[in-house]
Amino acid sequence: MSRKAFIAGNWKMNMTAESGKKLIKELAPLVKDANCDVALCVPAILIPEMIKAAEGTNIKIGAENVHWAKSGAYTGEISADMLKEYGVEYVIIGHSERRQYFGETDETVNKRTLAALDAKLTPIVCIGELLEERENGSTENVLSRQLTEGLKGVDDISKVVIAYEPVWAIGTGRTATDEQAQETIAFIRRKIGELFCPECAKKVIIQYGGSMNAGNCKGLMAQPDIDGGLIGGASLKLDFATIVNYDK
Ligand code: 13P
Repeated sequence: MSRKAFIAGNWKMNMTAESGKKLIKELAPLVKDANCDVALCVPAILIPEMIKAAEGTNIKIGAENVHWAKSGAYTGEISADMLKEYGVEYVIIGHSERRQYFGETDETVNKRTLAALDAKLTPIVCIGELLEERENGSTENVLSRQLTEGLKGVDDISKVVIAYEPVWAIGTGRTATDEQAQETIAFIRRKIGELFCPECAKKVIIQYGGSMNAGNCKGLMAQPDIDGGLIGGASLKLDFATIVNYDK
């Protein structure tokens, strides 16, 4: 079964309206012939300007979080309808930085994921183990729990993108090896098969994230179960175009 590759950037809390527009303008001609889907997930305040900057290009704009309620007393949060109003298509949910620093749990990941799907946004649900968990052999347990709890109640799993981001590889320059990433993502696909159905699992896009860059993207993307990347640091520069064009 062929899945269309999907390379997305995660700007995190970086860039400004000016630097963001400049980068999109420079990236656009470099990625226009990409064979994969391309998105940049940007800080909420930059969304309107980046949507405009990306107009007429194949770069889609995504958000970095979404709240589960339609509206209400949730100071600092943003609803799916607010994102949709500007033409946002993707939203990152449950990034490890949100789990680590902002109290995100499998339960809140689940609520945000269901709200995104309800609004017809494509959630990019992040899962991944800590270094300590990798070293003590509990990676598969952790990922199973994150998938089981985070995806509870999802009707059509093919509408969800999964990003496997081992926490020890994020921003550290220490990428998972091609084999480690492949083996773990194959496990994730099997688990999705168990939770949903084996046929559905074959359709789900699963990205790798964690120090993916212009140098290591080819090897990672050559793995049979790796369908794309969620790129942090390298999405803040033109290296992102090299990753998008990994197959050229
Ligand atoms: P880096 O590519 O900077 O390691 O970040 C990965 C990431 O967290 C993407 O969501």
